[in-house]
Amino acid sequence: DMGGHDTYMHKEISEQADAVDRVLRGRIDDRFSTVHLGGLNLDAREARTVRRVKILGCGTSYHAGLIGAQMIEELARIPADAEPASEFRYRNPVVDPDTLYIAVSQSGETYDVLAAVQELKRKGARVFGVVNVVGSAIARESDAGVYVHAGPEVCVVSTKCFTNTTVAFALLALHLGRIRDLSVADGKRIIEGLRKLPAQITEILAQEAEIKKIADQYADARSMMFIGRVRGYPVAREASLKLKEVSYIHAEAYPASELKHGPLALIEPALPTVAIVPDDDLLEKNRAAMEEIKARSGRILAVAHQEQEKADHTIVVPKNEDELDPILMGIPLQLLAYHTALALGRDIDKPRNLAKSVTVE
Ligand code: F6R
Repeated sequence: DMGGHDTYMHKEISEQADAVDRVLRGRIDDRFSTVHLGGLNLDAREARTVRRVKILGCGTSYHAGLIGAQMIEELARIPADAEPASEFRYRNPVVDPDTLYIAVSQSGETYDVLAAVQELKRKGARVFGVVNVVGSAIARESDAGVYVHAGPEVCVVSTKCFTNTTVAFALLALHLGRIRDLSVADGKRIIEGLRKLPAQITEILAQEAEIKKIADQYADARSMMFIGRVRGYPVAREASLKLKEVSYIHAEAYPASELKHGPLALIEPALPTVAIVPDDDLLEKNRAAMEEIKARSGRILAVAHQEQEKADHTIVVPKNEDELDPILMGIPLQLLAYHTALALGRDIDKPRNLAKSVTVE
């Protein structure tokens, strides 16, 4: 049942305020400015022994993991990174008992992720799941975990589950941070930010008509560049994936800082750039990158916290805490991908060549 929407993708994008509300519900502890994650089974003493975090997933879940790794580093100050599960599993990785491994999956059935979990467990590692489907294979094989509570996702491309997974990672990062060195004041600040998310998502979704107009203007592009720095870079990668999956427009994501090391050669009016421009300490750097693109007559669509002078179009999103901004900045770009695909008459819920869950190697 699409509940009045034309596609599941549109329905699922539209449901995100409620979905985020669900992942937060019952988990916030105001007394200690932290969160409780019932399925974690990790006491404080054990949590303090974690020296690294390694996040494994595929596709969109991998991108949510990239954001999660940054949150864990920023809030808990534990070195963290994300890697595609398939790469990890084929490179005979060093498995370290002091590392916490986290498997991320919407379906909980993706074979490459499941196989990575099984290999890790066989080697004695600690494996957590950040999973949407309750009771799925990855949830069962993990030692513990956090459910994402996005609700059923039917469209082949993931939208609401991506957003909820990044929120689940924010909760985990806050939890680990408050066991370690994150102050009460910072804990409070993050909790206030988390509580603002559902209303801010509603604000973003209310801009759909304008985003559709922008999409109609870029739908003739044969290729698009997505750029961002640090917190903005995984957002750019996910937005690039979403656009290619549903619209079949080629898209490429690059760190803004790497533009001048090569891809600047591609910039011309026929190759538009989407720039993720949060109002954080890298704002000036991002403006400089946009200036370089403008100097080569490139068109720019900015996703930012304020109107960007250098951009041809800006989608303004509400500001949250710096650490939580990536959760919101991808949402208008889900709508951009959707309306671009719609303008091009694509089969939005079932893009060619793709399956919802990849249970084979
Ligand atoms: C992208 C997409 C895929 C999945 C990937 C992992 O929109 O849907 O890239 O994210 O196949 O799937 P899960 O999260 O079920 O493990």
